[in-house]
Amino acid sequence: MRAKYQTKAQLKAIIWDATEFNPQTSMPPFGKNNILSPEELDLVVDYIWSINTP
Ligand code: HEM
Repeated sequence: MRAKYQTKAQLKAIIWDATEFNPQTSMPPFGKNNILSPEELDLVVDYIWSINTP
């Protein structure tokens, strides 16, 4: 993910609402549709961002 996304904000954006990037996606808009609370979304983003392949 770090190789693909320059910033944490970009990673967060796709998890917030993947339809912004691919209108045909099967991925639910976790932020926009309140599937995750703002706090939960930040925790998920922090976790994914923390996984680092050297
Ligand atoms: C908390 C749960 C989830 C997280 C954190 C997450 C995160 C992500 C991220 C970061 C990407 C971009 C991958 C890349 O750039 O290569 C992605 C892509 C994708 N996700 Fe998820 N995802 C979740 C759940 C789901 C679910 C439940 C579905 C489908 C039922 C799904 C379907 C997809 C698909 C099909 C893509 C490929 C790109 C696209 O079609 O938009 N995701 N996901």
